[in-house]
Amino acid sequence: MEVHKCVLCHDAPCLKIYKNISPERIIRAIKFDNVKGARQLIGDEKKCFEKNTDCNEECPLNVNIDKILEHLINVTDDKEDIDNIDLSTEICGVKLENPFLLSSSIVGSRYEMCKRAFEHGWAGVATKTICLMPIHESSPRFSALKDWNGSFIGFKNIEQLSEYSVEENMEMIRKLKSEFPNKVVIASIMGRNEEEWKYLAEEATKAGADLIELNFSCPNMKYEGTGSDVGQDPNTVELYTKVVRNSTHIPVLAKMTPNITDMRVPAISAKRGGANGIAAINTIKSITNVDIDSLVPEPQVNGKSSLGGYSGQAVKPIALRFIAEMANCEDLNDMCYSGMGGIYSWKDAVEFMLLGCTNVQVTTSVMEYGYRIIDDLILGLKIFMKEKNYSKVSDFVGISKCNLIDNDKLEKDTIEFPKFNYEKCIGCGRCYISCKDGGHNAIKFDEKRQPTLDGSKCVGCQLCRLVCPQNAINKASKRIGGVKNA
Ligand SMILES: Cc1cc2nc3c(=O)[nH]c(=O)nc-3n(C[C@H](O)[C@H](O)[C@H](O)COP(=O)(O)O)c2cc1C
Repeated sequence: MEVHKCVLCHDAPCLKIYKNISPERIIRAIKFDNVKGARQLIGDEKKCFEKNTDCNEECPLNVNIDKILEHLINVTDDKEDIDNIDLSTEICGVKLENPFLLSSSIVGSRYEMCKRAFEHGWAGVATKTICLMPIHESSPRFSALKDWNGSFIGFKNIEQLSEYSVEENMEMIRKLKSEFPNKVVIASIMGRNEEEWKYLAEEATKAGADLIELNFSCPNMKYEGTGSDVGQDPNTVELYTKVVRNSTHIPVLAKMTPNITDMRVPAISAKRGGANGIAAINTIKSITNVDIDSLVPEPQVNGKSSLGGYSGQAVKPIALRFIAEMANCEDLNDMCYSGMGGIYSWKDAVEFMLLGCTNVQVTTSVMEYGYRIIDDLILGLKIFMKEKNYSKVSDFVGISKCNLIDNDKLEKDTIEFPKFNYEKCIGCGRCYISCKDGGHNAIKFDEKRQPTLDGSKCVGCQLCRLVCPQNAINKASKRIGGVKNA
């Protein structure tokens, strides 16, 4: 709970309070699903509590950092030797030092920003989409759905493409490649017609880009026949991919729109046109909310709004679904997948890789927390690989694909009953309410505030386990072949 109070300040005052540790770094690791990494960051356990006596700084939110450290030391003391873990991978045959790239957006829109990102440890960047169209953006241009702590659940933008000229963008690519030859620069481009696609592909190639990403997917375009209009039309996808394929020798990724029923169809067209890989997903057409006072959806631009692209944590399940369908499609089996949509932690990234992505791209979490999130993407992935005994990223790319089968082929004769852990249970009764009003009435709640299961009614849906705020319900006994016993 103390961890939730921390807001991850920039240049955090707590840095000055402690002698031997960076509390912000440790708490950030915990928040980004990397508790083991947080533990690794504590050197000498006893020294970690030592304070600078002459320091007047205070945490603005009075977070009890000592309590967090104590808890961390108690929950795990495993320290893995992860120095030699090799995170290198590839994107359409181009080597990446690790699987983490910035996706095309504001986070990779200027030289100085990309430089800082590279110095932080990002392996590469897809530039903000470069185009020949005049771009004029509105203000404000974002809105968000938030959780109870104020973090983004999902994020909507009504932005279009790069506001910088083709020349400025090409100069950026040239400079990045000359100063960071081992980092990967993907030129994201979008044309209005064949000539523009050809021109942009040739310019990007001349500037030294490692790959070209075809933006067939921006949902906010003002020009008809561009952005997600293309991604929804397999013939145009094939045509423009072919134009680019014939204009460059470097690998080509087609970036797909999720505003479609079956992404395999345009992906096959992209492959036919000569694409080497698929990048997915771009943002989902959305309305995050309507302001009930002004009666205008957000973001409000002078009293009006428009549909916009939705990204962030809420879209990850949709992105994973599209990736899995394409990665399991025989007609697409030699394509490279660059996955994105809602990646915040190393665990999110691993999920994309298990379903077939050799690398992942990120925007919204960087917009929310900064380039520094790369620290825990890398550290968390290293610890995961060490624990699982994977010596290289390709050892686990795609290995979960085969575990996805059609619903009618799932085994349906086993019931997994819930098992209550009464040591952890706080007697809140949330499991009881959900089972009563949204389940099968299989939980009794007695006067001692203890839930018990009526096995004759339970169908093993596990709603109780999902709503339990204490993680006090486990999967337990199984019933096979219709014999009920809880
Ligand atoms: C503010 C913003 C601007 C974006 N601009 C572009 C763009 O210019 N070109 C593009 O291909 N995708 C663009 N995207 C989409 C992202 O690259 C990415 O596909 C999407 O946001 C999903 O990833 P995320 O959940 O990590 O943000 C943009 C996304 C955001 C949030």
